[in-house]
Amino acid sequence: MGCFEQHHADAAGRVGELTLPGHDDPLTTPTLLPVINPNIDTLPATAIVDEFDPDGLITNAYVIFRHDDLRERALKEGVHGLLGVDCPIMTDSGSFQLAEYGAIDVDNEEIVSFQIDINSDICTPIDVPTPPGASYDRAAADLETTLARIDAASAIVDDDRLLSAPVQGGSHPSLRESAGRAVRESGAYLFPIGAVVPLMTDYRFAALVEVVIAAKQGLNPAAPVHLFGAGHPMMFALAAALGCDLFDSAAYALYARDDRYLTVNGTRRLDALSEFPCACPVCTEHTPDSLEAADEIDRERLLSRHNLHVSFEEIRRVRAAIRSGNLLELVDRRARAHPAMLDAYRRLLDDWEYLEMSDPVIKDTFLYLSSECAHRPEVHRYHDRLSGWGATGQVVIGDGTTATDDVIQMELRPPFGPIPPGLEHTYPLTAEVPDRFDSCAYEAAAEGVAALADGSPTAEITVTVDGWPTSALERLPETVRTVEHGDPYAEE
Ligand code: GUN
Ligand code: ZN
Repeated sequence: MGCFEQHHADAAGRVGELTLPGHDDPLTTPTLLPVINPNIDTLPATAIVDEFDPDGLITNAYVIFRHDDLRERALKEGVHGLLGVDCPIMTDSGSFQLAEYGAIDVDNEEIVSFQIDINSDICTPIDVPTPPGASYDRAAADLETTLARIDAASAIVDDDRLLSAPVQGGSHPSLRESAGRAVRESGAYLFPIGAVVPLMTDYRFAALVEVVIAAKQGLNPAAPVHLFGAGHPMMFALAAALGCDLFDSAAYALYARDDRYLTVNGTRRLDALSEFPCACPVCTEHTPDSLEAADEIDRERLLSRHNLHVSFEEIRRVRAAIRSGNLLELVDRRARAHPAMLDAYRRLLDDWEYLEMSDPVIKDTFLYLSSECAHRPEVHRYHDRLSGWGATGQVVIGDGTTATDDVIQMELRPPFGPIPPGLEHTYPLTAEVPDRFDSCAYEAAAEGVAALADGSPTAEITVTVDGWPTSALERLPETVRTVEHGDPYAEE
């Protein structure tokens, strides 16, 4: 059996350790499993292990099965012998080929048995990746097939390895959630979220957020989750914040073949670069010109290595961010890479209740870096707290008075709103905020005042609203008195 321990949490993300049968060293998650195509040796598994020391690799059992020489060698030496490495190896089943080409010439039991025979560490059945646009009925029928194949695989897979149970369901959140619930009892230990590659290649990251949250809501929160085919470093922080623990990708190699250079801010064409913005060994020893002049195989190998360097660098940065409680700040920065990433970040914050369940109550810092930060789970959670505060008598929020025995004076701090005495120095009110607020910060502050008013029906609340936009004023309940400029009693 496997073992997954979570050590640090941030948003819905976590740093954990996944131990596999037969391997002493656990995988530290979130992590990236580079995809190895055993037919291509531009950058072989041995070179990747030597240079990057990955937690594990992923390869395709169907590709091995289909080629006589690879199949014979894998059956004789195991998949570790075939690739020449002893790190954990996950195998995929050919589902992706099924989705691409419509048919494959192996059945589920056969390819699962083959994965056992070649001693894969994590086996995968032939799930059916339903494309994003498919109808509910088709997605439901595909899902039924997938679940039956997971059950059949579970009956075959022994204790020396783990079974992965892909979560399908197309773009139908209710199906994704029921798929997540259905695989809980399947005997599988790792849960990849499938059929998301088309969403990623089309930059439909907000739709991806929806699919992942729906699947996660069905899955056991303690289970390790893999995001199938996620390999662009631009999206690791977002995917980790959603609660994905493993990524795999051929992107490093596929992009390299196309002379494309990965960065955390998106993909660049090699010929559009005059300098490398990266300090990896490839980028320090070469220039874009020298790479352009290199022969095709060398260029592809060098670009693949750079692409893996930025990918692993980002994985380490994501883990560090989770450990320090600033993953959402990293997601916020990555959201600036592309409007579709910004959309995804906003979509994630729309589901703040999902994030709030696991987001730590106390962190070191909260940096207010964009108007999106007004929608962070900490702000919503604080507002929930305000609505339970239950003030009575006179409450004055904002500048202008000194507290007396009959007046409760509260500071007003966008995006949080009123700060009851004594709470000033507690997280998240310790947030670092700019002097110049955006309207979302004022709107959130108004929601804070409204939450306080909601839970304090007998209190007489006055709030100073200097500089507030109409959109914030509109969020205040009518029972709250507003004053502008200075002493709230000045107008009496
Ligand atoms: N690789 C990328 N997407 C998928 C998927 O949905 N299923 C499987 N098995 N592999 C994938
Ligand atoms: Zn580089």
